[in-house]
This record gives sequence, structure tokens and C-alpha cells, in this order.
Amino acid sequence: MYILGIETSCDETGVAIYHSQRGLVHHLLYSQIEMHSEYGGVVPELASRDHIRKLIPLIKQLLHESKLTKIDITVIAYTAGPGLMGALLVGAATAQSLAFAWQIPAVAVHHMEGHLLAPMLEENPPEFPFVALLISGGHTLLVKVESIGNYELLGESLDDAAGEAFDKTAKLLGLNYPGGVKLSELAKSGQVRFRFPRPMTDRPGLDFSFSGLKTFALNTFQKCEKTDQDKADIALAFQNAVAETLAIKCRRALQQTDLKTLVVAGGVSANTQIRTTLMAMIEKENGQIFFPRPEFCTDNGAMIAYAGYQRFLMGETQRLEIFARPRWAMSEL
Ligand code: KG4
Ligand code: ZN
Repeated sequence: MYILGIETSCDETGVAIYHSQRGLVHHLLYSQIEMHSEYGGVVPELASRDHIRKLIPLIKQLLHESKLTKIDITVIAYTAGPGLMGALLVGAATAQSLAFAWQIPAVAVHHMEGHLLAPMLEENPPEFPFVALLISGGHTLLVKVESIGNYELLGESLDDAAGEAFDKTAKLLGLNYPGGVKLSELAKSGQVRFRFPRPMTDRPGLDFSFSGLKTFALNTFQKCEKTDQDKADIALAFQNAVAETLAIKCRRALQQTDLKTLVVAGGVSANTQIRTTLMAMIEKENGQIFFPRPEFCTDNGAMIAYAGYQRFLMGETQRLEIFARPRWAMSEL
């Protein structure tokens, strides 16, 4: 059976078709980066309007390029939250309308469960149980995963999410949205010169706090001449601090749960230095680490189609109602 996946929770319109036996058939992504970069960040109302413009044409193109028609689709999976309310409503309303017209069920998907399951789309997927580190623009979560839907929250960010910290630090260094990627590019020309703290690593526990790093970056920046090299050095020091803090907490989570498998997903997991630091830690621990391919680290329709398929197998379908939750804890799943 074919599952159509729809992602519209933020600034990316993602659609995909997943087949129950053959796996991912096709996916398309339209990014709104260019539109929002004029404003230095995501403008929610513009995001919603752009999803309205792009979503139906993208689904048509997806079906056409997959050589499928509407009668081939068995289920529609859509991101119901968390995310921007207006943007979520576009995906929810479109999914429910198509499901009604095509007389098929719709499944509401939790965006972070989508990220969590993205590595399952790869050739060599992880086996349960494992510890998952989810690092996106809105969330930093450490979760013990027994099976699909069986999640125990081990730790989370008490203030800024990892991606948010990247974006805010990028902004104060004068980099435009989307800051995370720009900051990581700048860090490539950085030299090891500053040492930033590794927040909340000197006490027990698995929670994170990244907002102090942004302030540390600002103070460091104000004390230097603000040359391009200064900026690159600060970017590198910031990125090092985030990468090492994540590695320390992941090692602790593995030891605490007595598990050897780590799954890392969400937009920030596309960061090369973070991937390398976590891989080095896992090697020392004799464990295994799994990431999605970089294009499935950030928002996409493929992970939603896959998560929706799993939820459908568990018997979950939505009644004909527009279901969107901007705030939605994973523990409620
Ligand atoms: O998962 P995602 O696409 O959307 C959310 O669910 O939030 O994550 C977006 C976040 C942004 O904060 C972005 O700056 C960050 O992921 N990001 C990165 C990189 N690519 C995306 N941060 C650091 N390095 C990257 N290469
Ligand atoms: Zn996301």
C-alpha cells in the first residue's frame, strides 16, 4: 500500500510517498528560505500562505513523477503538531479534505516522532531499544525508545533548543537566517582560540541549557575587534561547545539506560562537526550510532509518511476533523 505524507509545520512544504514493501518511493521539498530571509526569520503568516500556494501543486507533481494516481493511495499522513498553528492548519485541512474526497483514512503525525523515525528510512536502520537525541529548531530531547510509541523522556532543554541557540548566535554574529547552516559554514574557517562552557555537564542529570552559550558568544564578540576571523573563531568555539555538551549527555544517557545504540535526528543533526563528535564518543563506548541522511535531518515529507504508516499499522486514524496542535508533548503519544 502507498502512504502519502504531508509536512507543513514550519517553513518547509514536504510531501512524500512511502510504500509498505518497497519503502520510500519519492519525495519533494519546497523550502521557503528565500522568502523568509528578507525578514531575518520565519514570518508565520507568510509561511501559512506559501504552504497554501505550494502544497496542492507539489502533491500533483509527486503523484505524476511517481507514476501514481489518487486511487493508488491508501492513507494520508500529515504533521498535526507541534509547529506554527497556521502552517499546521494548511497541512491538516488539505490532508483531511483529500482523505474525504478520496474516501481514505488520514493519520495525524507528531512532528518529533517523524524526526525520531527518519533513520528508519535508511538501508541499515537501527534496532529497538535505543536512546534518541532529537535536536531541532524547537526541541532538544533525549528519549529512551523501547518501540514505536513507547517513549520515555530522559532529558530536554530547559531554555533554548539546540537549533534555536545556533540561529540566535548566528544572528548576533551578523549572519542571516537560516543561521544554523551559515554558522557551521563560518566555523570551517575558525581557529581554536576561545573556550566556551559545556553547560550543565558538571552536575548529574540529562537536561540541557543552551541560552548561556549565546550570551557567552555575545560577550566574547563585544570584547574583540569583530573581524571576520573573530566571527569564525567564535562560531567554531560555540559549535564545539554544543557538540561536546551533546556528546557528554548522550554518553550519560547510554550509561544510565544500559543501552549501546544512539539515534540522532532533527535539523541540527545535519551538522558535520556534531556528527563527528558523537561518532567519536560512540566508538569509545563500543556502541552504534545512526543518523538520517542529511536531507532527512531537516524537515521533510518522507519521515511523516513513514511515521504515519507506523501509526496506521497501530490502528490510529483520524475522524473527519481538522486536528492541529501547536504545542504537543511527545510523552502524550
Ligand atoms: O528539524 P528542523 O528542520 O525544524 C524543526 O523541527 O525545528 O530543524 C531546524 C533547525 C534550525 O534551527 C537550523 O538552524 C538547524 O536546525 N540546522 C542546523 C544545521 N542545519 C539545520 N544547525 C547546525 N548545523 C547545521 N548544519
Ligand atoms: Zn523539524
